[in-house]
Amino acid sequence: MEHFYLSLLLLFVSFVSLSLFTLFYKHRAHFTGPNLPPGKTGYPMIGESLEFLSTGWKGHPEKFIFDRMTRFSSEIFKTSLLGQPAAVFCGAACNKFLFSNENKLVVAWWPESVNKIFPSSNQTNSNEEARKMRKLLPQFFKPEALHRYIGIMDTIAQRHFSSSWENNKEVTVFPLAKSLEDPTHIARFADPFNALASGIISIPIDLPGTPFNRGIKASNFIRKELLKIIKQRRTDLGEGKASPTQDILSHMLLATDENGQHMTELDIADKILGLLIGGHDTASAACTFIVKYLAELPHIYDGVYNEQMEIAKSKEPGELLNWDDIQKMRYSWNVACEVLRLAPPLQGAFREAINDFIFNGFSIPKGWKLYWSANSTHKSPAYFPEPEKFDPSRFEGSGPAPYTFVPFGGGPRMCPGKEYARLEILVFMHNLVKRFKWEKVIPDEKIVVDPMPIPAKGLPVRLYPRN
Ligand code: HEM
Repeated sequence: MEHFYLSLLLLFVSFVSLSLFTLFYKHRAHFTGPNLPPGKTGYPMIGESLEFLSTGWKGHPEKFIFDRMTRFSSEIFKTSLLGQPAAVFCGAACNKFLFSNENKLVVAWWPESVNKIFPSSNQTNSNEEARKMRKLLPQFFKPEALHRYIGIMDTIAQRHFSSSWENNKEVTVFPLAKSLEDPTHIARFADPFNALASGIISIPIDLPGTPFNRGIKASNFIRKELLKIIKQRRTDLGEGKASPTQDILSHMLLATDENGQHMTELDIADKILGLLIGGHDTASAACTFIVKYLAELPHIYDGVYNEQMEIAKSKEPGELLNWDDIQKMRYSWNVACEVLRLAPPLQGAFREAINDFIFNGFSIPKGWKLYWSANSTHKSPAYFPEPEKFDPSRFEGSGPAPYTFVPFGGGPRMCPGKEYARLEILVFMHNLVKRFKWEKVIPDEKIVVDPMPIPAKGLPVRLYPRN
C-alpha cells in the first residue's frame, strides 16, 4: 500500500515538473532567434503583464515604457504581455512604421480577452468585427451629420448641466461626465462598464474574482440590458414611433449586408457595447481631465472662459451652438489637446506581425504582438520640451511634429470617432465654463489608469456658479 501512495506521489510530482518544464520551454522558445530586440520576458504565461498593468494602477503607465527604454533600447524592446510575446515600439519613427504598415506587415490585434468578453465576436473575430464597424461608422461621421449633431450635443449638455450640476455646491465629476449622453441609461451601467473596461486589458484568467471574470460578467449584464433597448426600438420602428435615421441603433436594425442579411440583435448589442466602450468612456475621461486641469490652472481657465464667452455673447437667447462657433474655439481645442497629451484616454494599442520582418536591425517574428504607446512620445522631452508642463501653445501654428501627438492613433486604424469626440469635448467645455468656476475638493487626488485614466475618488469639485 505504502508503495502505491509513493508511486502516486512520484507520478504527481513528475507531472507537475513536466508541465512547468513545458511551460518554461515554450516561453523561452518564443524568444530564441537571432537579433531579437533587447528586453526582459518575465515569467511563463504572465510575462511582464503585472508590471505593465501595475504601473498604470499606480498612475504612471509611462514608467513601464520609460524604464525599459532607458535600460534596453530607446526605440524597441521585447517583453511578454497578456500571454503573448511582444515588442513595444517607442517614438515617432516607430509610430510611423506601425501606422504605415497596416495590412502590409502588421494588422490590428486585440487581446484574447476581447473575444471572450464579446462572445458574439467568436463567430468571426474581433478584427473582422472592427472591419465591419469601420464600414458602418462613416455615414454617422460624415461632415453633414457631424454638423447636425452639434445642436443635439448642446441640448443634451444643457440638460445635463441643469439636472446634475446646477443647484449643487459639490459634484463628483467622473460619474457625471460619464452620464453626459443619457443620464438614465448610462448611470445604471456605470459600474459594469468600469469592470468591463478593466477586464479587456487584464490577464485572461477566468476564475471567480479575477478582473477578467468580472469583465465577462459585466459584459453579460450590459448586453442583456442593451438587448431590451434594442427590442424596444424594433417595436417602436415598426409602430412608427422611432425614426429610421434617428441614430446608429435604428440604422443597425434596418441595414443589410452584401448578402441582404440583417444584423442579429446580439451582434448589434456587441457593436453598441464596443462604441460605448471605445467612444463614451474615452470622451468622458478626456472631459474629466479637462475639469481637473482647469481647476489647477486658473490662467488656462481664464483663457478658455474668455474665448467661450465671446461665442456665448454672440448668440441669441436660446440659440444652439453651430459649426461656425466650433471653428472659433481654437484656444479651447489647444487646451483639450494638451489634456489628451498628458492624460491620453487610450494608452496605446496592439498590432500583430503578419510576416517575419526586420526593423531597425532587429528581427520581429511573425505572430509577435507589437504595442505602440502614446506616452512614449507624449511624455518624451525630445518631442515635447518640459513634458510635464501644461502648455497649450504647443498646438499653435503647425503644432507637434508628425507621429508625436497620437491620442487617436494614426494610419488606417486611426480613431474614426475623432471628429465626433472633438465636438463633444468642445460643447462640454463651452457649457461648463459658461456656468461655473470650481476647485478640487482633494488637492492631491491620485490618478489610476485601469485601463483609462481616472482620478481615484472620481474628482469631487466645489462649484461656484458664474452668475
Ligand atoms: C477622446 C476620445 C477618443 C479617443 C482618445 C480615442 C482613441 C482611439 C484610438 C487611439 C484608437 C486607435 C486604436 C488603434 O490604433 O488600434 C481608436 C479607435 C477607435 N475608436 Fe476612438 N477614441 C475616442 C473617441 C471615439 C468615439 C467618440 C468613437 C465613436 C463614437 C470612437 C470609436 C472608435 C472605433 C470604432 C475605433 C476602432 C477603429 C478600428 O479598429 O479600425 N472613438 N480610438
